[in-house]
Amino acid sequence: MTVIQNMQRFSTAILQRSQLGRDFSGLRIFRLPLMKKAPAACSITIYTFFLFFILFVAAAFISFFCFSSRFIFLVNNSERKAVPISENHRKTPRPIVVPLNCSARNLTQTCPGNYPTTFDTDLAWKPVCPDYFRWIHEDLKPWKTTGISRDMVERAKRSAHFRLVIVKGKVYIEKYKKSIQTRDVFTIWGILQLLRRYPGKLLDLELTFDCNDRPVIRSGDHRGPNSTSPPPLFRYCGDRWTLDVVFPDWSFWGWPEINMKPWGNLLKDLKEGNNRTKWMEREPYAYWKGNPLVAETRRDLLTCNVSDVQDWNARLFVQDWMLESQQGYKQSDVSNQCTHRYKIYIEGWAWSVSEKYILACDSVTLMVKPRYYDFFMRSLQPVHHYWPIKDNDKCRSIKFAVDWGNSHKQKAKFTWLMPLIYF
Ligand SMILES: *[C@@H]1O[C@H](CO)[C@@H](O)[C@H](O)[C@H]1NC(C)=O
Ligand SMILES: *[C@@H]1O[C@H](CO)[C@@H](O)[C@H](O)[C@H]1NC(C)=O
Ligand SMILES: *[C@@H]1O[C@H](CO)[C@@H](O)[C@H](O)[C@H]1NC(C)=O
Ligand SMILES: *[C@@H]1O[C@H](CO)[C@@H](O)[C@H](O)[C@H]1NC(C)=O
Ligand SMILES: *[C@@H]1O[C@H](CO)[C@@H](O)[C@H](O)[C@H]1NC(C)=O
Ligand SMILES: *[C@@H]1O[C@H](CO)[C@@H](O)[C@H](O)[C@H]1NC(C)=O
Repeated sequence: MTVIQNMQRFSTAILQRSQLGRDFSGLRIFRLPLMKKAPAACSITIYTFFLFFILFVAAAFISFFCFSSRFIFLVNNSERKAVPISENHRKTPRPIVVPLNCSARNLTQTCPGNYPTTFDTDLAWKPVCPDYFRWIHEDLKPWKTTGISRDMVERAKRSAHFRLVIVKGKVYIEKYKKSIQTRDVFTIWGILQLLRRYPGKLLDLELTFDCNDRPVIRSGDHRGPNSTSPPPLFRYCGDRWTLDVVFPDWSFWGWPEINMKPWGNLLKDLKEGNNRTKWMEREPYAYWKGNPLVAETRRDLLTCNVSDVQDWNARLFVQDWMLESQQGYKQSDVSNQCTHRYKIYIEGWAWSVSEKYILACDSVTLMVKPRYYDFFMRSLQPVHHYWPIKDNDKCRSIKFAVDWGNSHKQKAKFTWLMPLIYF
């Protein structure tokens, strides 16, 4: 592993820096679901980085988000209360306390020398992985028979922002170029949290990460008898024409540039916000606020806004980031945006990080037919988790959905199961 020689030792440095350590305070997490081993394939290439490793880490990450059994995706709208998808999700495991204590809020502290190097899991407890776990198998399929060679990893470098290697529980980073804002820092920080939470549980691995929005590994370039195998490149979203491997986006751990808290903290606010205004008391319209300049489809959406002559049941607003930043982002606080019965999700330049905040709002999500997916989106089901909106007929599609929802609200039939993401 000569690669490591050039790599900057990373380890706990980030934890010690700036405000990052703070957000650990009081966090408790729940059991990591046991990972099924990937089929022991591979073996061909000498420098092989076994699929298994990457698979493991990807699965571990994703499970980190699904909060194992605590990730409940459903709300029974007629009752306004959460209903588990299945019995499997009802089993509440004994919460485990992570041996990490930052409640002292001492930002210059170092990790104690006696920090555990192993993590005890209770093997008797076997949660069932949420449905969207299976997509990691799908994403890694291109390498299932070939394994991943050194050459493939090298080729992933072209557009990557960093390469990350974990050896014996230590993280090493090789930075290739600067990412937008602090996307890379927060992505890496998420990985460090994972290591801290499950000491000794992550296998040695290597992955190459691209922090930009759009997927770049086109599957068409890697088809046919003489084509090269695709490089394994991790990023935040994919689409049906590409082979990039999706990974949770940085905003789960925070997005300081726009004052966005880590997901765990934000959920608490969202829950309070949801509790403040019951669904029936909310504005009976479809709400959207965002930046229309990033995509044609968003500009198109704005034509559906209410006007003197037409009401498509949509209330649409342009996000003015300059103004917001001057006002300390009070207007863009997502937990105060759960004021309408319907919320529109529409892609921007690629998938939009707003998706999870919209879904968590406990309103009905009206999803304009998306092209890009993130790590959990492919498991969302129309009518169960969101109401699909036609991309080429947005206004009428929105009007229909809102009218339908408002007129069926009293009936027990109206049992749209809306996503509510809990801790
Ligand atoms: C939602 O609640 C209603 C009223 O209690 C019930 O009849 C319906 O079966 C529930 N739907 C689901 C999916 O649990
Ligand atoms: C964490 O540290 C604080 C301050 O040092 C201490 O008061 C608290 O009891 C610790 N919590 C745990 C769970 O060890
Ligand atoms: C933070 O912790 C470091 C190392 O444990 C210590 O030297 C420093 O005095 C502490 N700072 C505060 C404000 O408690
Ligand atoms: C693949 O390579 C072989 C040998 O170099 C060549 O004869 C053949 O035409 C190539 N096929 C394609 C589809 O490029
Ligand atoms: C929701 O609001 C009610 C009263 O408005 C309050 O009693 C309850 O504790 C709140 N629940 C949560 C989870 O905040
Ligand atoms: C949409 O209509 C509302 C209500 O008239 C208005 O406040 C808002 O600024 C409009 N949005 C856009 C993007 O024009």
